[in-house]
Amino acid sequence: MATHTSLVFYVSFILACTFFSMCDAGEDNPKLHIVYMGSIPKTPYSPTSHHLSMLQQTFHENDSTNFVIHSYKRSFNGFAAMLTNQQKEKISKMEGVVSVFPSRNLQLHTTRSWDFLGLSKSVKRRRAIESDVIVGVLDTGVWPESDSFKDEGFGPIPKNWKGSCAGGKNFTCNNKIIGARYYLDDSARDVRGHGSHTASTAAGNYVHKASFFGLAQGTARGGVPFARIAAYKVCSVSGCDSSAILSAFDDAIADGVSIISISLGSHSQQNFENDPIAIGSFHAMARGILTVNSAGNDGPLPASVSSVSPWILSVAASTLDRKFIDKVVLGNGKILMGKSINSFNLNGKKFLIAKKNSEPHSEKCSEYSANICECLDSSVVEGKIVLCDGISYVDYEGGHPIGSIIQDFTDIFPPFVTPLPSLSLSTIDYNLLKSYTNSSKIPKAEILKSETINDPNAPMVADFSSRGPNTIVPEIMKPDISAPGVDILASFSQVASPSDDGYDKRSAKYNIISGTSMSCPHVAGIAAYLKTFHLDWSPSAIKSAIMTSAKPMKVSNDEVGEYAYGSGHVNPVHAVHPGLIYDISLDDYIQMLCNLGYDSEKVKLVSGKNNSCSNAADRSLVRDLNYPAFAIDVKSRKSFTIKFERTVTNVGQEKSIYKASILPNPKIKIRVVPETLTFKSLYEKHSFVLTVTGSDLLKQTIISSLVWSNGIQNVRSPIVVNVSD
Ligand SMILES: *[C@@H]1O[C@H](CO)[C@@H](O)[C@H](O)[C@H]1NC(C)=O
Ligand SMILES: *[C@@H]1O[C@H](CO)[C@@H](O)[C@H](O)[C@H]1NC(C)=O
Ligand SMILES: *[C@@H]1O[C@H](CO)[C@@H](O)[C@H](O)[C@H]1NC(C)=O
Ligand SMILES: *[C@@H]1O[C@H](CO)[C@@H](O)[C@H](O)[C@H]1NC(C)=O
Repeated sequence: MATHTSLVFYVSFILACTFFSMCDAGEDNPKLHIVYMGSIPKTPYSPTSHHLSMLQQTFHENDSTNFVIHSYKRSFNGFAAMLTNQQKEKISKMEGVVSVFPSRNLQLHTTRSWDFLGLSKSVKRRRAIESDVIVGVLDTGVWPESDSFKDEGFGPIPKNWKGSCAGGKNFTCNNKIIGARYYLDDSARDVRGHGSHTASTAAGNYVHKASFFGLAQGTARGGVPFARIAAYKVCSVSGCDSSAILSAFDDAIADGVSIISISLGSHSQQNFENDPIAIGSFHAMARGILTVNSAGNDGPLPASVSSVSPWILSVAASTLDRKFIDKVVLGNGKILMGKSINSFNLNGKKFLIAKKNSEPHSEKCSEYSANICECLDSSVVEGKIVLCDGISYVDYEGGHPIGSIIQDFTDIFPPFVTPLPSLSLSTIDYNLLKSYTNSSKIPKAEILKSETINDPNAPMVADFSSRGPNTIVPEIMKPDISAPGVDILASFSQVASPSDDGYDKRSAKYNIISGTSMSCPHVAGIAAYLKTFHLDWSPSAIKSAIMTSAKPMKVSNDEVGEYAYGSGHVNPVHAVHPGLIYDISLDDYIQMLCNLGYDSEKVKLVSGKNNSCSNAADRSLVRDLNYPAFAIDVKSRKSFTIKFERTVTNVGQEKSIYKASILPNPKIKIRVVPETLTFKSLYEKHSFVLTVTGSDLLKQTIISSLVWSNGIQNVRSPIVVNVSD
């Protein structure tokens, strides 16, 4: 995955293509591969010498050190090295190897958002405990001098911190940013802005009067403003490398972070053993660390969610009630409303609209390219407003227009920051503008500065947010949860272009960006906040509390329900007191891998335990993983009876009685046995069986939900039946 920002993923996609075309070249040139070897064996064992001896056997050379690019030996076992396909085959067959896979290029995927989530400035906080929480952010690094990362009022570094400040060239840590490491470039300094944005959204300080050139002004802050940050730079301007991501997980786990936030991923669903985020987060989970990951920005395409592991909390993106609009005033007085985050003010001055963007039959610029503004002829457009028939990269550098108006026929993208006065219009309004331009002798317009209006429909899941189902493990609903990810204001890099366009030379301390990259650190901040109240909770318990307390959401434009937003909209204040939790232990996850049919020897390597896969693989038991949601694939026109077993743990009132209720759906029958759970003590567990029956259904997605309620807490789990042909 690219960093999951809607602006950025376009670039990353191109990079991915370049990468894949390289892969398809057919020659057996050495390429960077990851050799994954599971947990670190407990007996006296030196990962480094084992890795070297494996390479020596492969290369028939004495000195194989130069071939190792990364060595994973602190939290799990493996290495990254340049290997030909032949060498890859040979190493794959060696004892102790779980998987060998090419290192791919993955992509990167405020103020208002926290109040919108009900986590107001006055919310109850355990400040002392919060300052012992360390949020590990795997991203593009951070801008350490940002106000969001100042350490005023912070005490000494928490005692449990085992990491270090190894931020490289011109990078100093403080008592807020207590750790920094980089795996590419020459320092952990953020030159893209993405990592500063995500880190400050998760755990940035309170910063008053933050804004983007006056837009979205307010107090910027993270979910846990008193927590510490450890930055792991795994992405450079050219993308994020799998082998670097694994190094960062290896370090972050050993360094002692409390939560991991990772706003990046691939464009496709990968098997766990070939997915660096699945591997790294598995070992994090085994050490009690929850990984929060962005779902991806490839929606509304079905099955586009790239974050599919059950031990990860996968986050979709939704809108805030603050919506950016922009207006253009035409020479005839007509006003058209569109979208953009345009901080430029033309002060009442109207400019000529270019009737065309290049000379006819220009060699430099074809008519098609000129019409979509991919290429602009400065002799025609300089100093004018250009009209662009489609969204692409506009060639501002080549054409020097004064502004641009862009036709947006898909409406998938939220407003984003523009490098000059600019807005996008719906096709209807764009055609009105075109006919005005055509029919007027001297067409003119003024593009106004953006404003914000209230959006009563919020929260709505964003169209760009990646959708389920999960095709790797259909029994695991993905994404898990939705959080604000549209037009979020947070800290930025002062050397990055706020609009991601080289033409835009502005430097912004705070910037407004969109993507599941932005929703992910909101949930990471909330998970960290929950940890301050429940120090002993497992990663799965925190995940369960966040999912079962979520607010139901409005159906998205593509009507795929839970496949768009998971359990619903994150609800931090309720998540602190979930009542019941669906806990999952390391052994439960291991048993799930066995049931999925993973080779018993490999599962042993992964878990580092002797007793993996005690029973034979049974695919039908995968759905009994104690997940706080119920998902199942069934065939159309067949009858089915499917049982799910679950166990809930009481974390609320000692004595309480929970009753089950089902949101009725006429297409299926759902039964819960028993329907009442009576708890007499804290941490008491009770099991139940949920049975879904149906017959003769056509291809569709059927949604229902189960709520356990004691009259105060409502513990809600979605039920998703995917009927396929
Ligand atoms: C490898 O080691 C052997 C024995 O130590 C030595 O004779 C040989 O020259 C070495 N080869 C290289 C390429 O260094
Ligand atoms: C370190 O980086 C900051 C921010 O770019 C810059 O202002 C400062 O001059 C740099 N210092 C050195 C010694 O390069
Ligand atoms: C504007 O003029 C161009 C060129 O003459 C034509 O192709 C286009 O259809 C016109 N658009 C509208 C909306 O009138
Ligand atoms: C695993 O099994 C081996 C051989 O049966 C035994 O020597 C070892 O102590 C066991 N390790 C653990 C952690 O149980």
